[in-house]
Amino acid sequence: MTIFETDKLASDTELVRRYLDNAQPSADLTAADTERVIDRIKQLLQTRRAKLVAHYYVAAELQELAEATGGFVGDSLEMARFGRDADADILVVAGVRFMGESAKILSPDKRVLMPTLEATCSLDIACPIDRFAPFCDAHPDHTVVVYANTSAAVKARADWVVTSSIALDVVEYLMEQGEQIIWAPDKHLGNYIKNTTGADMLLWDAACVVHEEFKARGLLDMRALYPDAAVLAHPESPEAVLAIADVIGSTTQIIKAAMQLPNRDIIVATDKGIFHKLQQLAPGKNFIVAPTAGNDATCRSCAHCPWMGMNSLQRLLLSLERLDNEIRVDAGIAERAMVPLQRMLDFAAQNQLKVRGKA
Ligand code: 13P
Ligand code: SF4
Repeated sequence: MTIFETDKLASDTELVRRYLDNAQPSADLTAADTERVIDRIKQLLQTRRAKLVAHYYVAAELQELAEATGGFVGDSLEMARFGRDADADILVVAGVRFMGESAKILSPDKRVLMPTLEATCSLDIACPIDRFAPFCDAHPDHTVVVYANTSAAVKARADWVVTSSIALDVVEYLMEQGEQIIWAPDKHLGNYIKNTTGADMLLWDAACVVHEEFKARGLLDMRALYPDAAVLAHPESPEAVLAIADVIGSTTQIIKAAMQLPNRDIIVATDKGIFHKLQQLAPGKNFIVAPTAGNDATCRSCAHCPWMGMNSLQRLLLSLERLDNEIRVDAGIAERAMVPLQRMLDFAAQNQLKVRGKA
């Protein structure tokens, strides 16, 4: 069951479009400037006792810089864990805003900066607390499970926070306890979990502007061109795409599958930023971007998250130099949001997370 109808989805899509129209791209750097900027960032990371924590979807140079300086590149669950455990005064989160907020909530004593505070997420935008809280209030008998891609305020209203790598396991566990579940915000991930587990779930109606654009028809055509290819998909993709996939999983689970599978050709239905790590860890394989809707897509650059794309070396340098773009979370909200976030990390620590698929 979905709670909001297509007119609401259309207005959210319009909101995302307007936001993207106002977002300013940052200027390109020459090779020499790039080197100077990287050196300066390395110095600042050291003198400020800062660690760079990056998501797989951000630019390759940011991922390389994170790894070269003792920082971290990973999926959203691993980023949260690394940030919490890092021996640092400052965390610089190269990703989107909810990742910075989760880092701050889990590490209240660390300063959390981001290259840009404008980097949001269509799922976060489409699940504002003033609409979400009344929905939860209307179903007091339900356990509230929210995806990590939400605001701190929405997390504070939840019983559980999950990321894509752990969502199925948590819902399976809750189902065994006989719980009825409210799931928000990603309808495709929610639907996938509901179909896989058979759990009793009320689904919020929102989608990722990037994964929403992967198309099953094009994927079948592509598979005909590469008959031996494995298809790996992030569970934010539409149901018809997931039905074709050999493996469904989080970004880290996709990378692990690509390394383990015997297939040389691999079609990937997730943000193309991940190709950097895929090529690094599975060299010699042929990675192919799953087909998207092309010119009609709601995102500007198909198969690449426009907000992840806002993270740049220049913006990272500025935030480290000026110590600005700091993530601040209201203390009361942070205290409440910490509970379901910590619950997720404790659950993950006790469970061996699985990769689902037919491969
Ligand atoms: P992961 O948790 O798999 O890294 O996904 C985060 C995300 O935003 C996917 O679009
Ligand atoms: Fe959000 Fe989609 Fe971007 Fe991930 S790829 S941060 S879900 S808009």
